[in-house]
Parts: sequence; structure tokens; C-alpha cells
Amino acid sequence: MLNGKKVVMGICGGIAAYKAADVVSRLKKQGAEVDVIMTRSAANFITPLTFQSLSGNHVVVDMFEKPVSWEIKHISLAKKADIFVIVSATADMIGKIANGIADDMLSTTVMATKAPVLIAPAMNTNMYENPIVQNNIDKLKKYGYLFTEPAYGRLACGDVGYGKLAAVDDIIDDISVILNDKKDYKGLTVMVTAGPTIEAIDPVRYITNHSSGKMGYAIAKCARNRGAEVILISGPTSLKPLRNVKVVNVLSNHDMYDAVMNNFDDCDIVVKAAAPADYRPLKYSSQKIKKDDDNLVLYLEKNIDILKELGERKGDKILVGFAAESQDLIKNAKDKVLKKNLDFIVANNIMSKDTGFKSDDNAVCIIDRDGGIDNIPRMSKIELADIILDKIKSLK
Ligand code: CTP
Repeated sequence: MLNGKKVVMGICGGIAAYKAADVVSRLKKQGAEVDVIMTRSAANFITPLTFQSLSGNHVVVDMFEKPVSWEIKHISLAKKADIFVIVSATADMIGKIANGIADDMLSTTVMATKAPVLIAPAMNTNMYENPIVQNNIDKLKKYGYLFTEPAYGRLACGDVGYGKLAAVDDIIDDISVILNDKKDYKGLTVMVTAGPTIEAIDPVRYITNHSSGKMGYAIAKCARNRGAEVILISGPTSLKPLRNVKVVNVLSNHDMYDAVMNNFDDCDIVVKAAAPADYRPLKYSSQKIKKDDDNLVLYLEKNIDILKELGERKGDKILVGFAAESQDLIKNAKDKVLKKNLDFIVANNIMSKDTGFKSDDNAVCIIDRDGGIDNIPRMSKIELADIILDKIKSLK
């Protein structure tokens, strides 16, 4: 959440300007205060009224317009900003900033701000790849300006290549990382496992479970935002890959075991939010099994319990597990903390309708080694991730 954070957004003239409306809307939903400055050409693509309605603030376009309050607008906005974001940034605006030109409201205010400046460029591929534009970008990076790099794709002009405005999710993600002043995980490496595993029966079929990976991804994201180096070992999920995180994609419990063990020595903290399959088919059929018989018996053998193995070599690392239970939540979870030698366990009641696997929310009990229980009410998985990270930090 970005409660009370002050974002000043600059919008330049390009077809991607309409996507800036989504950025403003998302920032407002997260509790940020947003002021918008548009260039004159941006106002040809999308009206200031759109941004005024979304931000709830007067939108500035003209440097010399009749002031709505008696303050020097470019200076007051420059000072007010916790972050300055330019979405979408044209080659022209990047060139102006890189070369110290301040000749309109937006370029003047950027010049006057001491806040971090995040630039999300959008332009035709040939323009983006032009060495003059690339030199300007490099120069700005050297001065500490930050970039959400444009994506590859089909541009409005029909060309295919780099230059498409980055996904709004990625822009919001970068803003959240920059504005997160809690960097209490700096210097720590956190390994998170997420999602299900799949255990192949034959080339077509497999065994798996309902895990969505959302809880693990939320923990990985929050740890990254709080300054940690994050290694995310992910089973197959439909979630968007996380940026600035080392991601290792795995399929089976066996793959997850290998990935976890290969990275274990490098981490200080392991959070095992994954739901690896407990059993795999005893025998993999290299040919598709035909439906010749009325009944099919599938023999399964137990998979390695990865977390239990980690518990045996825990040392001074912090080890956090999850417990998915459909009955006797507390008793079963308490047994798992001790059996797997964990610092604490986060216990889920998977029978609850509004929380659990596919939901964006969760309600859990956190159970310590000494039996202490914290009941955490229903909240978003992102909020819960922060609580879990606070709890881990209190043990370090
Ligand atoms: N876990 C693991 N490797 C497995 C199975 C589970 O590392 N093969 C981890 C999970 O990531 C989770 C914890 O162990 O952090 C508990 O998982 P859960 O499915 O609740 O319990 P199990 O130990 O598998 O026991 P049961 O299925 O009997 O409840």
C-alpha cells in the first residue's frame, strides 16, 4: 500500500498516454496522493479532465496559466513529491531532461525536484533504438534517474519491437519498491517456495493440487521490496513472473528439492509456502496409458519432505513452514513445527470458503516453536506477507 505517499506524475504526448490513466487510478486505489502535470501534446491525446477526475487534483498543463493557489507551482510540486514518475516519456522529454532543457511545466518541475524520478518511456522502436535516445537514457541512468524499461511488442504504428510502454503492473511495482522506506531486509537472502508441484503419470497426465502460488509470490515480492535478495523456487502457476528476483521454475517435487538444496547455503531465511505433492506415481509410463480396463490402479510412492530435510540442516537459518489443514488445525500445525524443526508455521484452514488457495486473501494462525499462537484475521496475502516478514525479522 502507498498510503499518503505523494506521487507527481508527468504525462507526455504519445498514444500510450491513455495508459497513464490506469497508473493514476491504481496509485489512488493504493492510497497515494497524485498530482498530474501534462505536456501540451499529451493534452491532445487525452484530456486533463480525465486525470483531474482520477487524481482528484487540478491538472497542470500550462506554465503560465492562471494559478489555482498562490504558490510557484513547479517548485511546490517538485518539493511535494516523494516520487516523480513520467508515464509515458517521449524521446523529446528524455532528451530535454538529459540535456538540462527546462522549457515547459513538466521539464521545469523535473529539473527542480530532489525526489527519485522514475521514467517509463514509450515510442516507436526505431526512435527508441536511436543511439541519441540510448545515450540520453544512459546519461540519465548515470545521474540516478530510474527507468521502467519499455516492453517488446506490437506498437500503435504497426512496427514490432521494443518501445511499447511497460505493463502498468510493472510500473506500479517499481513505484512500490522505490517508495518502500522499510529496507530492513537489506543484506539478507530469502528463499521462498511457491505453488504446487506436478508429478507425471504418463506424457499426458499428472497429479497436482489447488495451490495458486499467490501466498509465496506475495512473500517474495514484499521481501524484495524490503531490500532482500530473493530466490523464488516456483512450481507451475499462472502468476506473472516477479522482476528483480532470482526465479527458478520447477515441475516436480524432485525438481523443487534439487532447486532448494542448490540454493540453501546462500540464504539466511527460507519460507516454504509451496504445496509440493506428497506422493508421485511409483512408475512413470513413457507411453500414454490407454483406457483398456474399467478400473485403473495407480501406485504412488512418497516424495521427499523438503522442509523436513531443511529442518535437519537448519543451523542458524530461519525456517518458516506453512500448514494446509482441513481439521485439527492447531494440533496438526504444532506437530509440524516440531517435526520439521521450524521457527514458526503459518497454518491455513483450507476448508474456509473466502480464504486459502485461489483467493487473494488469507486468514491464518501463526504458531511458534514454544506453542505461542497468533490469530491473524482475514486480509490480503500482500498484507499478510508483511506480517510474516515482521515476525521473521523479530527473530533475527
Ligand atoms: N512440504 C515440503 N515438502 C513436501 C511436502 C510439504 O517441503 N514434500 C512443506 C510445505 O511446503 C509446507 C509444510 O511442508 O511448508 C507443510 O506442508 P503440508 O502439506 O501442510 O503438510 P505435510 O507435511 O505434507 O503433511 P500432511 O500432508 O500429512 O498434512
